[in-house]
Amino acid sequence: MLLSTDPIYIQEVGMRDGLQSAGSFIETPDKVDLINQLSKLGLTKIEVTSFVSPKAVPLLADAEEVLQTIERNSAVQYTALIPNLRGLERALQTELDEVNVVMSISEAHNLANLRLSCSESMAQIATIVERSAGLRVNGTLATAFACPFSGPTEPREVLNWAQRYLDVGIDSLTVADTIGAATPGQVYSLCKQILTRFPNIELTLHLHNTRGLGIANALAGIAAGVRRFDASFGGVGGCPYAPGATGNVCTEDLVHALQFDGYSCAVDLEGLIAATDTLAALLPEQLPGLVRASGTSKKRHPMSEGLRKLASEKRISL
Ligand code: COA
Ligand code: ZN
Repeated sequence: MLLSTDPIYIQEVGMRDGLQSAGSFIETPDKVDLINQLSKLGLTKIEVTSFVSPKAVPLLADAEEVLQTIERNSAVQYTALIPNLRGLERALQTELDEVNVVMSISEAHNLANLRLSCSESMAQIATIVERSAGLRVNGTLATAFACPFSGPTEPREVLNWAQRYLDVGIDSLTVADTIGAATPGQVYSLCKQILTRFPNIELTLHLHNTRGLGIANALAGIAAGVRRFDASFGGVGGCPYAPGATGNVCTEDLVHALQFDGYSCAVDLEGLIAATDTLAALLPEQLPGLVRASGTSKKRHPMSEGLRKLASEKRISL
């Protein structure tokens, strides 16, 4: 049962969400090479880096240099996460299509991540939108399903904060399952509520695969009407300020699931697996993605001589 024939857009966040907590620093030229590879694969958007404090996230301390050096593809939107006005000032000195602001719905997580209350964050975001000088601003609502410190999030809280984001003038909204705690039923229900209340919104679902439900949750999002998904190649990463969270839903696993089930998802799967091979060679940890390890559903294993002999004895043609 195909849940949609609409195009499904995949947005690569591994270079930011993944690398911010990777096992080692990836040198700037290697980051640039990875982004250049990713730019050619039919991904709609690439989150290239974040303009956060280099003390907080040293693995992305080279944000400016990366953005100065990459080769851009006009079909791709390049975005970067910013946590505050200082981040906006830095981002405005570079060539970007969008900045991604973030706040958590949970007070505890927002304090841990940004050292601000939720209301302080929203006030700061209003100023960021005012000063964004025409640059698109995407608003991310983190901990939209659950917080690692205070537990489940009420859907009406998500709707309230989404309204406040729209009131201050963001261009698009991302709803994030920061710690991979959502279930397909919850994803379907929340996305339906958001799209019913805000039918014209450009909504992205940002899923982590902490408990193995990433792809099931993406399919539930599609059933509810979501067409844009964040994912990270290799499934790399996690959030350094969200204990217990692992990487995003893996891009090549998601693309494989969608393409082999007949969805319209124009991403070069082989190219994506090759980009993840490049990434894997640069990191000490094993990446959790499955399709790269197992091969796609098209893969055929060689038959043994014994099997061929048995087939011929039984006059079965293989
Ligand atoms: N870029 C570079 N440096 C920044 C910065 C930014 N966007 N924001 C703050 N800083 C620096 C300040 O210059 C200051 O440096 P100093 O100690 O050398 O003087 C230091 O960080 C503290 O600045 P302050 O304004 O007091 O901020 P803070 O201590 O309240 O920190 C954050 C707030 C959120 C900016 C910082 O903790 C951060 O960048 N966190 C990363 C959050 C993140 O990436 N989370 C995962 C993704 S959601
Ligand atoms: Zn995330």
